Amino acid sequence: MKNVANRKTAGAEAARDDQAIDVTLRPVAWDDYIGQEKVKDNLRVILKAAKGRGEAADHLLFSGPAGLGKTTLAYLVARELGGLVKTTSGPALEKTGDLAAILTNLNPGEVLFIDEAHRVNPSIEEVLYPAMESRKLHLVVGKGPSARTLSLDLPPFTLIAATTRENLLSQPLRSRFGATFRLGYYTIEDIKKILNRSAKILGAEATPEAVGVLARAARGTPRIANRLLRRARDFAEVHGAPVIDEAAARKTLEMLDVDEAGLEPNDRRLLLTIIEKFNGGPVGINTLSAALSEERGVIEDIYEPYLMTLGFLQRSSAGRIVLPAAYKHLKIKGRDELL
Ligand SMILES: Nc1ncnc2c1ncn2[C@@H]1O[C@H](COP(=O)(O)OP(=O)(O)OP(=O)(O)O)[C@@H](O)[C@H]1O
Ligand SMILES: [Mg+2]
Repeated sequence: MKNVANRKTAGAEAARDDQAIDVTLRPVAWDDYIGQEKVKDNLRVILKAAKGRGEAADHLLFSGPAGLGKTTLAYLVARELGGLVKTTSGPALEKTGDLAAILTNLNPGEVLFIDEAHRVNPSIEEVLYPAMESRKLHLVVGKGPSARTLSLDLPPFTLIAATTRENLLSQPLRSRFGATFRLGYYTIEDIKKILNRSAKILGAEATPEAVGVLARAARGTPRIANRLLRRARDFAEVHGAPVIDEAAARKTLEMLDVDEAGLEPNDRRLLLTIIEKFNGGPVGINTLSAALSEERGVIEDIYEPYLMTLGFLQRSSAGRIVLPAAYKHLKIKGRDELL
């Protein structure tokens, strides 16, 4: 019992530390926001035009896997628009009154950032629609036959919503954003730049080889890159090494059970299940979900995108198929080779 509790506390502590590091390493200037060039270019145009017209910018939706920089980007945009921002999240908005209170307290030109927008509940979405469309807050006052709707004008504001699960967002909500930006995984080169920047901030030195090893295992994700760097720094420190070298980087991955392509035990389990139980596929998503005891949405939104990026997995109309590159990576003979 005690052990479990300790483990939990240690886990929570590590998560808190990671959060603090997230904030320390978060770029606050456009130049430090590495990669995602197309997103940045398009955003700059929107922001420049809005500023030129002296209006609030269009409502923006940022979607993409966790840790790719959606929150960071939202704060950069807010900074550009004058620096005022109020932050909330889907799960934090429990009652329509919660949102109404936030909306009525907005300053002109302020950014309202709603994280985990796919978790905003439908009754709260209803309040959001007129607010987004015509800056009106409709409040129902009273109950039963005497209930009336009160309409309040809101100051001009920009809503920025972030989501890791864009397909869970309702169509009416999605259609009310002026622009949607989908963040994709970063290239290895960009991740290397992020690692080098982070190393400098953390006062850690890493060899180019070590940076390469960590970058390839970072799943194209800045947050994971930073976490790996931090663990590698711990490892080097504990072993009295002045710099993080390639061996330290590799040892760190080994300790974390992350392979050199960034696959974690769950990714390997997914691939191996398809290979071993379904002869490499195609296997339908529901069947796969049952075999793995994982929710379908988690498989689709969390595990599969990176595996597809690596060319390890394919989604076809007949189901999921493990591709030759995955067999090679896992050092398993493919179907064709076995014949
Ligand atoms: N383009 C970037 N350049 C440099 N560092 C970045 C970049 N994007 C993200 N980071 C780093 O990665 C960390 C995670 O980014 P952020 O919190 O913005 O991700 P997110 O997309 O909001 O994730 P989540 O979906 O979990 O909320 C940041 O603290 C920052 O240090
Ligand atoms: Mg975020």
